[in-house]
Amino acid sequence: MEILPEIIRRKSVRQFKQKPVGKQQLSRILEAGLKAPSAKNRQAWRFIVIQKEELRKRLQEASFGLEYVGQAPVMVAACTTNIDYRMPNGQLSYPIDIAFAVSFMMLQAVHEGLATCCISTYDEQEVKEILTIPFSMRVVMLLLIGHSDADPEPAGRKPMKRSVSFDHW
Ligand SMILES: Cc1cc2nc3c(=O)[nH]c(=O)nc-3n(C[C@H](O)[C@H](O)[C@H](O)COP(=O)(O)O)c2cc1C
Repeated sequence: MEILPEIIRRKSVRQFKQKPVGKQQLSRILEAGLKAPSAKNRQAWRFIVIQKEELRKRLQEASFGLEYVGQAPVMVAACTTNIDYRMPNGQLSYPIDIAFAVSFMMLQAVHEGLATCCISTYDEQEVKEILTIPFSMRVVMLLLIGHSDADPEPAGRKPMKRSVSFDHW
C-alpha cells in the first residue's frame, strides 16, 4: 500500500456530519499517535479524547465560538506532561513530539476515511479549566476528527524548489 496518496488526500476539513466515529477507528487513530517518535522516547504527552456533547460545546465556546469545533464528534486535546525538556540542540521537545503524534493521528484518520482539522484557535486557560488539565501543563493543539461533510479545495503548497535545496541553503 502506498502512503503518499493518503498524505496528499489529507486536507483540513471544517464541516462535519453528525455521525459518530467508530470505536475501533478511534482506537487505531490513537494508537497511531502513540507510535509517533518523541525526543528520547519520553512520550511526555497526554491525549484527552472528548466525545461528550456538553464538553464539546464548552470547548467550542473556548474556541471563540468557531462553529466547526462544536460539529466534530471527536476532539482530541493534545497536551504535555512535561514542558521543560530540551533536546541536545537546545530546543524544547514538546511542541515537536506532540506535532508528530497529532500528524500520525491525522494520517490514520485519512486512512480510516475520516477527516480532521488541527485547531490552535482557543483560549488555553479556558480549555484547561474545562478538561481539568493541571495549571503547569500546556494544551498544544486540539484535533477535530469526524466524517467530512465538505470537499474543500486543497490548500496547495509552494513548489518543491522553493522549500527544498540540496547541499546548501
Ligand atoms: C499548528 C497548526 C495550527 C492550526 N490552527 C488552525 C486553527 O486554529 N483553525 C483552523 O481552522 N485551522 C488550523 N490549522 C489548519 C491549517 O490552517 C491548515 O493545515 C493549512 O491551511 C493547510 O491546509 P490543509 O491542512 O488543508 O493542507 C492549523 C494547522 C497547524 C499545523
